[in-house]
Amino acid sequence: MESIIFVSVTGKTSQSLIHALCGFLFGILHEEVCLWCSNNAMGLWSKIKGKGTDFKGPPSVGQAIMKNLPKSEIIESCSVAGPGFVNVVLSKKWIAKSIQKMLIDGIEKWAPQLQIKRAVVDFSSPNIAKEMHVGHLRSTIIGDTLARTLEFSNVEVLRRNHVGDWGTQFGMLIEFLFEKFPNIEEVNETAIGDLQAFYKASKQRFDEDPAFKERAQQAVVRLQGGEPKYRNAWLKICEISRKEFHRVYERLGVHLEEKGESFYNPYIPGVLKELSDLGLIEESQGARVIFLEGFNIPLIVVKSDGGYNYASTDLTALWYRLNEEKADWIIYVTDVGQQQHFDMFFKAAKRAGWLPTDDALKPKVTHVGFGLVLGEDGKRFRTRSSEVVRLVDLLDEAKDRSKTALLERGKAEEWTEKELDQTAEAVGYSAVKYADLKNNRLTNYTFDFDQMLNDKGNTAVYLLYAHARICSIIRKSGRNIEELKKTGEIVLDHTGERELGLHLLQFSENVEETCTNLLPNVLCEYLYNLSEVFTKKFYSNCQVVGSPEETSRLLLCEATAIVMRKCFNLLGIEPVYKI
Ligand code: ARG
Repeated sequence: MESIIFVSVTGKTSQSLIHALCGFLFGILHEEVCLWCSNNAMGLWSKIKGKGTDFKGPPSVGQAIMKNLPKSEIIESCSVAGPGFVNVVLSKKWIAKSIQKMLIDGIEKWAPQLQIKRAVVDFSSPNIAKEMHVGHLRSTIIGDTLARTLEFSNVEVLRRNHVGDWGTQFGMLIEFLFEKFPNIEEVNETAIGDLQAFYKASKQRFDEDPAFKERAQQAVVRLQGGEPKYRNAWLKICEISRKEFHRVYERLGVHLEEKGESFYNPYIPGVLKELSDLGLIEESQGARVIFLEGFNIPLIVVKSDGGYNYASTDLTALWYRLNEEKADWIIYVTDVGQQQHFDMFFKAAKRAGWLPTDDALKPKVTHVGFGLVLGEDGKRFRTRSSEVVRLVDLLDEAKDRSKTALLERGKAEEWTEKELDQTAEAVGYSAVKYADLKNNRLTNYTFDFDQMLNDKGNTAVYLLYAHARICSIIRKSGRNIEELKKTGEIVLDHTGERELGLHLLQFSENVEETCTNLLPNVLCEYLYNLSEVFTKKFYSNCQVVGSPEETSRLLLCEATAIVMRKCFNLLGIEPVYKI
C-alpha cells in the first residue's frame, strides 16, 4: 500500500503543512475546522481497480491510507467519510505549540528553505541621463521585494543595478556638454540642472545639426578608446544621474549595488570569442549574429558598425554572473516588452552550454516581466502635458496626500511635526508600493492615488491601520507581552482562534510560493487575508482584554502582529505602531 501512496505526491493547498503532516496526501484544507480533507483514495482506486488487489472500492483504500498514516502529534483524529475522503483533523495543540515556539525563537524559524545558494536579482536598472520612469519604479519595487523574500529564505542575494551607462547616446551627451561648458570643471549637478532636459536638448541638437552628429559619433569612438577628456565627461554625467537615482532609492528604502553595462565591456570580446569558437556566431548583413530556432530574427551581438549592444552586454553579464559570481539563479526584472530579448539570449546561453536545457535544473535564469502602469484614462501613465511622470514628483505627491489625510484625522494635535512627517512618508510610499505589488505583476495596473490611499479595502493604509490596532490592543491590556511569551500558553478552543492559528502557520508556504514563482502578489494576498481572518473571524468573536482567555488571546494578537510586520518588511513597507 505504501508504495502506491507515495506515487501520488502532489498537493497544492497548504503544501508544506501537509508535507509536514504526512508527506503524501493531497486535498483541501478547511481552515475553520482545521480539517484536511484528502481525496487520494478515489484517485488511487481508479489506478488499481481490476488489478487484483484486495480493495473493494475507494472507502477501503481510504481505510488503508488512514491506518498507514504515521503517528504524529500534528494529527488530532482521522476518519474516512462518504465515498472515501480521508479526513484528518489537525491537532490544535500542535498548532498552538508551533505558534508559541515562533514567539520565542523568532519568525526567522518560519523561513522556507530553498534549494538555492546564491541569486542575482537584476532590477531597477535605469538608464543614465534618461528619465527614470514608472517602469523603473515597478522594477525597483518588485525586484526589492523578491530580493528581500529570497534573503529571508536564506539565499545570498546579489542585488544588481544594471544601469544603462554605456552606448552611443553618450557621444551626443558629451559633445553637448563640451558645447555648454567649455570648462568641464564647472560641471556639476546645479550647473546642469535637469539631466532629462539636458538629454532632450542634446538629442534635438543631434537630430538637427549634421556637423554636431558627426562630432557626437566621433566622441563615442574616443570615449570607447579611453581618451581621458571623454572618459572624464562621461564620468561626470554618470555621477549626476547616479545622485538622482540615489535620492529615489533612499526614499524607497531600497538598497542596490551598481554594476552597470560599462562594467562588462572589457569582458565582451572574450565572451564573443568563446561563442564564436563554439560556432554560434555568424555574419549577416555586415553584423555578427546568432541564429536561434523559434525566432524569426537573429540575435545581433556585434552591430554592422562594429559596436556592441544590449544583447552582447547581457550575454557577457550572464557569463560573468555564472562564472565569476557563481550564482545559481539569475533573475531579471523588467517590463514584459523585453521578453523576447531575454528569451533570445537565454536560448543562446543554453546553446553555448552555459545553462542546462532542462529549466528545472540549475543554474537557472528567469525573466520576471511586468505590465504597464496606466493612467486613469486607461492609457500609458503620463502627466497632463503628456510628459513622462517623474518619480520624485510621484513620491512627493504620495507623501503630501497621506499627510493631508492624517491632518484631517486631527493628528496635528496629537503628534509632533516630525512624527507627522515620518508617518506620512511611511504610509505614502507604502501605499505606492503595495498598489503595485498586490496585482499579478503581468497585468497592467492603473495608478490611482485615491484608491491606493483609501483606508478601506485591500490597501497598504488599511493593513497598516489593522496592524497598529493590534498593537494598541496589546498596549492597552497593560500586560508585559515579552513576559507572557515566556510564561503564557496559547489555547485554541474557539473556531476563530483556530482559524487564525492555522492561517498564521501558512505564512511559510506563502513566502515559499512567492519565491519560487516570483510573485509578490501571493504574499500580499496572504497578508490581506490574515488581517481579514484576524478581524472578522477572531477579533469580532473573541473578546481579548478582560476575558478569561486574555493571555492566550494576547499572544495570538502578538503573533499576528509579528507575521504582519514580517510581511510588511518583505514588501518593503515601513510599519507604524500608532495611527
Ligand atoms: N536599462 C534597461 C531599461 O531601462 C533595463 C536593464 C535590465 N537588465 C538587463 N540585464 N537587461 O530598459
